[in-house]
Amino acid sequence: MENVTVIDHPLIQHKLSLMRRRETPTNEFRVLLREISHLLGYEVTRDLELETRTIETPLTETRSAFLSGKKLALISILRAGNGLLEGMLDLVPSARVGHIGLYRDPDTLVAVEYYFKVPEGLPERPVIMLDPMLATANSAIAAVERIKEVGARNIKMVCLLAAPEGIRAFNTAHPDVPIFTASIDERLDHHGYIVPGLGDAGDRLYGTQ
Ligand code: PRP
Ligand code: URA
Repeated sequence: MENVTVIDHPLIQHKLSLMRRRETPTNEFRVLLREISHLLGYEVTRDLELETRTIETPLTETRSAFLSGKKLALISILRAGNGLLEGMLDLVPSARVGHIGLYRDPDTLVAVEYYFKVPEGLPERPVIMLDPMLATANSAIAAVERIKEVGARNIKMVCLLAAPEGIRAFNTAHPDVPIFTASIDERLDHHGYIVPGLGDAGDRLYGTQ
């Protein structure tokens, strides 16, 4: 599939299998998602800009690499995006954070916006969008449209699970935005849920089932 990278490190696959299991409780689900977000984040931030600066070690002066340029923006698609956000912030604590509140209308599966607050300067920042589930992709497509409206250009989409239908729709709407995912699952069911999937990510993360 075009414009999609599957990050299928063995640790990710193992932790994802634990997350998928019906009996995995909320507290374990949340910890596993945070751990997986570290592993996804490692790959997704691979091309961040660096600059060298002079430092002193206890032994000598040397040139050493530091992150440079405008700070990364992490944009969480509420609610479930927050499950990936915490782990990404562990890796890049200086990142700026935005939130886009969207819920899927259960009948039409259309994404309905209820909140939008993002950092300034998005045109100059690398932007990473976070949502564990790319199902129909209606939510991710709408969120990226809103981010582009405020000028973001260098955007990546990070999810945990993606459905082939969602990847196709997202690629059509935003061919310039690469997707990074831990798994491409089989399909969507009649209610727009990813199969085999893991159920409702927000509910499993926050125990609201
Ligand atoms: C879930 C999930 C995504 C969306 C994916 O959110 O977190 O945002 O569904 O589905 P889509 O690709 O078909 O749009 P939901 O609307 O259930 O809201 P929540 O995160 O607040 O539970
Ligand atoms: N949203 C979820 O949380 N899970 C799915 O399978 C599809 C959309």
